[in-house]
Amino acid sequence: MTAFHTVNGVLHAEQVACARIAEQHQTPTYVYSLQALNTAFSSFQAGLIGHDHLICFAVKANPSLAILNVFARMGAGFDIVSGGELARVLAAGGDPNKIVFSGVGKSHQEIRAALEAGIFCFNVESINELHRIQAVAESMNAIAPISLRVNPNVDAKTHPYISTGLKNNKFGVAFEDALALYQTAASLSHIAVHGVDCHIGSQITELSPFLDALDKVLGLVDALATHGIHIQHIDVGGGVGITYSDETPPDFAVYTQAILKKLAGRQVKVLFEPGRALVGNAGILLTKVEYLKPGESKNFAIVDAAMNDLMRPALYDAYHHITAIVPADAPSQVYEVVGPVCESGDFLGHDRALSIAEGDYLAIHSAGAYGMSMASNYNTRGRAAEVLVDGDTVHLIRERERISDLFKLERVLP
Ligand code: LLP
Repeated sequence: MTAFHTVNGVLHAEQVACARIAEQHQTPTYVYSLQALNTAFSSFQAGLIGHDHLICFAVKANPSLAILNVFARMGAGFDIVSGGELARVLAAGGDPNKIVFSGVGKSHQEIRAALEAGIFCFNVESINELHRIQAVAESMNAIAPISLRVNPNVDAKTHPYISTGLKNNKFGVAFEDALALYQTAASLSHIAVHGVDCHIGSQITELSPFLDALDKVLGLVDALATHGIHIQHIDVGGGVGITYSDETPPDFAVYTQAILKKLAGRQVKVLFEPGRALVGNAGILLTKVEYLKPGESKNFAIVDAAMNDLMRPALYDAYHHITAIVPADAPSQVYEVVGPVCESGDFLGHDRALSIAEGDYLAIHSAGAYGMSMASNYNTRGRAAEVLVDGDTVHLIRERERISDLFKLERVLP
């Protein structure tokens, strides 16, 4: 049974009717399933048993302490992109020696904090960053383990905003420059070259871009070996897509097997940085229909969640399945599902056939990744509550933000 399923048309999260959650915790509320998190992680890992590996959950997809803690307990590592994410992982009980630090703008402070924590590896994105890490490490009398994030220039065939492996984006170092940069890195006193890293984009639904990228990376690993630089790990990044509507991403077993096949015969640890694939379909967003508003050309269902809660539709025109959480007698009508925020881009779904009345609850599906993590306080809206369901138990893992929280750091002039 999948974690989110209907019983006689009534949506459940594990054994709990979603209506019970909506009534107890109000809306909008993110609901996650522990079983779905566990299943996603263990099925990703299943294909890797027997090969030296580390699965580093990409914290940005869902940085909830409770969720990080679930993955930490399962032995996960973490891919972080800020000092804030580092602090979260440590607070959630993550092992610092399983952290990789990606991102193009690492500050002195962030590098220092990561070295103090003793992270597994920095994924270095530019020559200037390499020199900065060297300087910070030298000042601390520490050695910084690094990979260079190389840009293999393959087309991930995904939305341009979430494609990162092409030449013309800000990530990584150009493939042609990588050898020379590795030679520089190897010559630096407080840098230890450990790996090669690449990440080509997100929500990738085909296998071939991953394999094309890995082929290029392996070519680089071999070239480095001939120059006396021996790589201990290859980080293949994240990016495995999920099904939002009718996409058919490779399943984990196919994906990991294809990667391992290319690594056959090599004594190299393999790192993965999945985000969306581990949490995307482990969460939904519950929302209430505030108003039904017939329009001249469209009918609007105005709900209490908005683009500030789930930004993906507004930002990427992303599709999220939307369903009523209990069957209703109301006639089915086609609605624009929109939030209360004052922007025409504030929609959650276009042209959705729904049988709903005011006061009904809806579920916005596949909202576990890049949902709460990209939420904002736009229009001075407090961010949603988050709950994690385990069997028949609902744990509140983040309280709904209070309005007073939203301006408590602000000051008016004396
Ligand atoms: N590693 C690095 C270096 C990344 O930049 C990312 C995502 C990941 C791993 C995890 O990728 P995933 O497995 O989740 O595809 N906000 C967008 C997605 C942005 C992805 C950014 N980087 C969305 O809502 O679709």
